[in-house]
Amino acid sequence: MALGIGVIGTGFMGKTHALAWRNVKAVLGGVNGAVETPELRLLCETPLARAEVMADQFGFAGATDDWQALVNDPAIDVVSITTPNGLHHPMAMAAIAAGKHVWCEKPMALTLAQAEEMAAAARARGVTTMLGYNYISNPAFTHAQRLAQSGAIGRLVQFRGWVDEDYQADPDLPWSWRAKLEDAGLGALGDIGTHLVSMAHGLMGPVASLIADMQTIHETRPLPDGTGRGVVENEDAASVILRFANGAQGSMVISRSAWGRKSRLGFELHGTKGMIVFDQERMNELQLYQNEGPKAEQGFKTILTGPAHAPYGEFCPAPGHQLGFNDLKVIECARLLRGIAGLEQAQPDFEAGLRIERVIHAIAASARAGGTRMTL
Ligand SMILES: NC(=O)c1ccc[n+]([C@@H]2O[C@H](COP(=O)([O-])OP(=O)(O)OC[C@H]3O[C@@H](n4cnc5c(N)ncnc54)[C@H](O)[C@@H]3O)[C@@H](O)[C@H]2O)c1
Repeated sequence: MALGIGVIGTGFMGKTHALAWRNVKAVLGGVNGAVETPELRLLCETPLARAEVMADQFGFAGATDDWQALVNDPAIDVVSITTPNGLHHPMAMAAIAAGKHVWCEKPMALTLAQAEEMAAAARARGVTTMLGYNYISNPAFTHAQRLAQSGAIGRLVQFRGWVDEDYQADPDLPWSWRAKLEDAGLGALGDIGTHLVSMAHGLMGPVASLIADMQTIHETRPLPDGTGRGVVENEDAASVILRFANGAQGSMVISRSAWGRKSRLGFELHGTKGMIVFDQERMNELQLYQNEGPKAEQGFKTILTGPAHAPYGEFCPAPGHQLGFNDLKVIECARLLRGIAGLEQAQPDFEAGLRIERVIHAIAASARAGGTRMTL
């Protein structure tokens, strides 16, 4: 049986979704077993001429510039939403109302109220949902989860996380939709902080309370049409102290204006018997320290991912040859397909996404209240 796929948007994420839909069967068809074969039926972009060019390039049967037509098309079973943040809520709500499964990019929505509505609608309609928290599909990350859960570093006592990029570090970078509350919602917190929270949740479980501070480093930016400078309405950076429901402590630092950092998303996971360290800029490795063996020989070891870390072997039979960013999207896509087929609960779904939204909005609320502790 075939599953009709519609993708909205053909930018950075639109391309990763289109590639994932094209490749998921070839790469992961074996492990996916009984899932239906995705058929690339409709691609939506504006204007129509651009949609037609991109549909041809990505291998979609049809093109449209009308996203409402796409979500209501009876030939479409799953809708990929890869548009700017402000469109996630209306597009997801319409797709769910039409009974479609939804793969939506993060952050989930502009406001917590919108995210709550999306999760409630998906729950009520019984459709399968997935959010684009691709970094937690990395076999290196899932191995870190296995190590942590198996007691390899003892009791987990601290999560120290960071996410630094420099895509907004240049003060002369033109103003864009990312700086506008109405289109982007939160700034660095929504854009990249959400990824860090998805990792913290995956390793430590829910956040119980937090204290935060945040900052807009570049308060105005040149308008693209040269008519002056536009106000940056959301935050460039944030710092957070956390307490997890499991009793462990945590901290997070987040910046979209950190020169030299390209995708420095990572963490140190401290345990009573050792430590695990991960850095997305070296996404195919983990550092593991275990307090065992002769003291003179103790030290961090580097674990390179390979076929021993499923599903790496479905991409490449040789360890250390390295997966890439787009491969994470293929794994995410396969999880969604298995969810739709009822083989497992697709994760992270809109419920998991809502838990992430609660954390970033609590961070913003704490910072706005001058560092008040917020309980989740
Ligand atoms: N998962 C990740 O690691 C990751 C990385 C980058 C961006 N994102 C998220 O993905 C989303 C898109 O970001 P991007 O970097 O791909 O942006 P982008 O600007 O590269 O792409 C957005 C696309 O949506 C199209 N679009 C806008 N309005 C439309 C409409 N009404 N109908 C059809 N198409 C429309 C644009 O023309 C463009 O092609 C954002 O929510 C962002 O936060 C996620």
